[in-house]
Amino acid sequence: MNTKTLERLYNNPHEKNIDGNFQFILFGGTGDLAHNKIMPAFYNLVEKDILPQHFTLLATGRRYSSKKEYLDAIYDSLNSKKKEVDNRVWQVLSDNIEYFELNFKDDNDFMKLKKYFADQSKNNKIYNRIFYMATAPEFFGEIAEKLKKFDLLNVGFEDNDSKLVIEKPFGHDLKSAEKLNNTLTNIFQEKNIYRIDHYLGKEMIQNIMVIRLSNPIFRSLWNTGEIDNIQIYINESEGVKDRGKYYDDAGVIKDMFQNHMLQILSLITMEEPDDLSSKSISTRKVEVLKELSKIDIESIDEHIVRGQYIFNKYGDDEIKAYQDEKNIPDDSETATFIALKLFLDNERWNDVPIYLKSGKRLKKKEAGIAVEFNHDFHNSYSENSEVQSNLLKIMIQPDEGVSLRFNTRKPGSNNKIVPVEMEFCHSAHQLFNSPENYEGLIHDMIEGDKTLFTSWEEVYYSWKFIDKFQTKCNNEDLKLYKYPALSKGPEAADELLKNDDRIWWD
Ligand SMILES: NC(=O)c1ccc[n+]([C@@H]2O[C@H](COP(=O)([O-])OP(=O)(O)OC[C@H]3O[C@@H](n4cnc5c(N)ncnc54)[C@H](OP(=O)(O)O)[C@@H]3O)[C@@H](O)[C@H]2O)c1
Repeated sequence: MNTKTLERLYNNPHEKNIDGNFQFILFGGTGDLAHNKIMPAFYNLVEKDILPQHFTLLATGRRYSSKKEYLDAIYDSLNSKKKEVDNRVWQVLSDNIEYFELNFKDDNDFMKLKKYFADQSKNNKIYNRIFYMATAPEFFGEIAEKLKKFDLLNVGFEDNDSKLVIEKPFGHDLKSAEKLNNTLTNIFQEKNIYRIDHYLGKEMIQNIMVIRLSNPIFRSLWNTGEIDNIQIYINESEGVKDRGKYYDDAGVIKDMFQNHMLQILSLITMEEPDDLSSKSISTRKVEVLKELSKIDIESIDEHIVRGQYIFNKYGDDEIKAYQDEKNIPDDSETATFIALKLFLDNERWNDVPIYLKSGKRLKKKEAGIAVEFNHDFHNSYSENSEVQSNLLKIMIQPDEGVSLRFNTRKPGSNNKIVPVEMEFCHSAHQLFNSPENYEGLIHDMIEGDKTLFTSWEEVYYSWKFIDKFQTKCNNEDLKLYKYPALSKGPEAADELLKNDDRIWWD
């Protein structure tokens, strides 16, 4: 990797300023995502002077009837998140926000939007138009079709160059994902479709490639001869909250594995990309996902642990069972927990078990990756029972950082060996400020950098694997273990590793 490439990796891309007037149309601008993620991200981008003085952030919705009402609601939600909203920043942001009452079902509203675009482009040249779907997935295709039908893509803007941003989930299985993709690619060019997996915006996910590839000590050992096993875990302590209806169909498999878990897995195990372009990185990720899609599911069914949380008392708090949550059928068999072991059948990873685990209502909210190096080496110390394997941990959340365990001589002892841990943790040391995930993603979609977004091929092969996996898990022979809410999950997940003489490192 050349110095220029490394420089690009280390430079915080979010410090680049954005030039040119852009129009950001936020469908679902009144919803939860807009209030809690998108608007705070825009606030931060304005605060850092990254956005131009004039841009348009056009939020659509039904629930407010005036711009003033909308701005008041946004101000209140920003205020509840920040210690204090800075008036200068708010002034710039609110000057650039427009509110547009629009019902997705009403064709007239789209005609009015077209007129608005035409009026706006009379006075200002638009350099960049971005349509962001912060809405329920069933509207994604419908909105896109109306944008085409009412000719909203080209008003005052270069033909067929509008961008489209799609929130997750992208389909609920391969068939529906293909259908949605066909609809969208009939309207937008693939290069202009940005599929969000907000995990890719997380600081430590972006750091995976830097850690792997810019450090010869890891780069040269990143293979089956040197690594004993890899673990990826996303443990959530929350239940399903108000998302019961969605969750009971998705379960942990579609909610976590289809996107975040498989994305992390592909970044950790992919071959080195030719360069750092989004295309080269995606090509390498697709190779891994393709490999996964070929796995014979029957060969791993003994290595899958499914679970669902049940009632528990935690101090004075009573934690509901999954089946008692809002909008969940009381005989639901949906898995809220999955642990599994799999292998990638390629030269680099042959024989290295990869353990994946994710669940809801687990004791500790924590996401990370553990790479355990081989312990089975031969030298003068290999018989010494105090010597432990080297362990690289990449902490994704809530702490962000890296730790490395290695063996050292205990000072002053008679050659006693102790493992020590070297740790670098952003949140603890505040070495640099971790931006909101959405801040970086919004910056990149405006700038046209697709590195942190998933390509159609990635989505396609992820679904190919997940469809097979889901079918296997729906099979009634595969036991559904019940685990108490806020516990560490089913015992069987520990057994999975114990049988291999290993333990989870989360
Ligand atoms: N919330 C999160 O943290 C989060 C995280 C990751 C991904 N996502 C994804 O982001 C998307 C949005 O989620 P959300 O939580 O923000 O949903 P939400 O709170 O239910 O918001 C839905 C938005 O859609 C609008 N809407 C619904 N029906 C409409 C219609 N017929 N015409 C016009 N507008 C309509 C609502 O506007 P009005 O109510 O004003 O009509 C509202 O702005 C979903 O795909 C979700 O999976 C959300």
